[in-house]
Amino acid sequence: MKKKIVLGVSGSISAYKAADIANQLTKLDFEVNVIMTKSATAFITPLTLQSLTKRRVHLDVMAEPDEALINHIELAKTADLFLVAPATANLIGKMANGIADDLLSTVALALHPETPKVLAPAMNTYMYENPITQKNLATLKEVGYEEILPREALLACGDYGRGALANVDTIVQHVLHVLTK
Ligand SMILES: Cc1cc2nc3c(=O)[nH]c(=O)nc-3n(C[C@H](O)[C@H](O)[C@H](O)COP(=O)(O)O)c2cc1C
Repeated sequence: MKKKIVLGVSGSISAYKAADIANQLTKLDFEVNVIMTKSATAFITPLTLQSLTKRRVHLDVMAEPDEALINHIELAKTADLFLVAPATANLIGKMANGIADDLLSTVALALHPETPKVLAPAMNTYMYENPITQKNLATLKEVGYEEILPREALLACGDYGRGALANVDTIVQHVLHVLTK
């Protein structure tokens, strides 16, 4: 049976790279269940991710596509790996503080403690280096999250510094490593 990956996509300028991640993981024969935040849909369409994964893209915590199941619990329960790429400062803050006000943050909170959890932050350097963001990341690492570090690069905002989403290949290799060990 295919291993299931929940791919969370949040509202970063680098959200378009989630299409490549979803595509590569699908071609590696994983079942990729994408959850997008509302902001993410301003950067990339659910149709793109649905077409690449051949799966329904999940957007709304109150949409219950299967009346026999509670969608956010089912997504959390059946995940072999939870990956958020890109992860915004906002989402990291919500996840670190137990806020569950949309589908992605709700699924994050409902994961089994042993489920592998990986996040790849992407944001402006000051947002990334902000002690609040660093504290939130430290909190998430304490409860089992692995961080794929952002790269130093010329960012979309024009600043040069750490905050660019890790390379897609690095993210995919990391997933393969976690799921095959
Ligand atoms: C053009 C643009 C680019 C953005 N890029 C980022 C980003 O790379 N990282 C980030 O943390 N926030 C970024 N934001 C801000 C987030 O979209 C904003 O904080 C939003 O509330 C995040 O919502 P979400 O975490 O639910 O996806 C960007 C906003 C805009 C308008």
